[in-house]
Amino acid sequence: MRKKTVWVAAILVALFVAAGFFVISQANISALPKPGGLETSIAAPLRNWLIRRAAGGPIPPAPPATPEAVSQGANMFGMACATCHGQSGRHPTAIGSGLYPRAADLASPGVQELSDRELFWVIKNGIRMTGMPGFGHTLTNNEIWQLVDFVRSLPHQPRIP
Ligand code: HEC
Repeated sequence: MRKKTVWVAAILVALFVAAGFFVISQANISALPKPGGLETSIAAPLRNWLIRRAAGGPIPPAPPATPEAVSQGANMFGMACATCHGQSGRHPTAIGSGLYPRAADLASPGVQELSDRELFWVIKNGIRMTGMPGFGHTLTNNEIWQLVDFVRSLPHQPRIP
């Protein structure tokens, strides 16, 4: 009786491992398709929740968002971010739209509904397993706040391509 149970368990484990290998062997690693609806509906809320939690930690205080800060942020954006997000921040380049997931339109409601602290955290740390790099080693906190000010200004700027 006990021997039979062991056999059944061994067969179940073997089937489980075989099914796992099958699923992995069918995975598509091409970056060309747009992430599917099911994947996005699971990954996006999880990402937002993780960002919200992480941004609850210590974040340096924001200097005032003056017009000078926005314009400094725009310069920095051209050097560090436009490669993927496009010069306007709204139309991802060929590189940005070839990533999986796509580089975000930074004026879109999905991005603008992030808090200033969350934007700061994303720019400083990046988002693992996406193309979004972390700039914490290359930009100062002040420069990152200027970028936050620039991203915030996007919905109010005239539409440029
Ligand atoms: C190498 C390409 C690349 C560069 C360079 C890049 N990004 Fe991104 N960025 C991405 C991708 C891809 C995403 C989408 C990530 C996702 O869907 O979770 C993204 C998402 C974002 C988001 C939205 C995050 C969210 O949770 O919705 C912000 C804000 C952002 N980037 C700001 C910036 C800023 C500011 C810079 C420059 C300092 C920058 N990015 C540089 C690829 C890039």
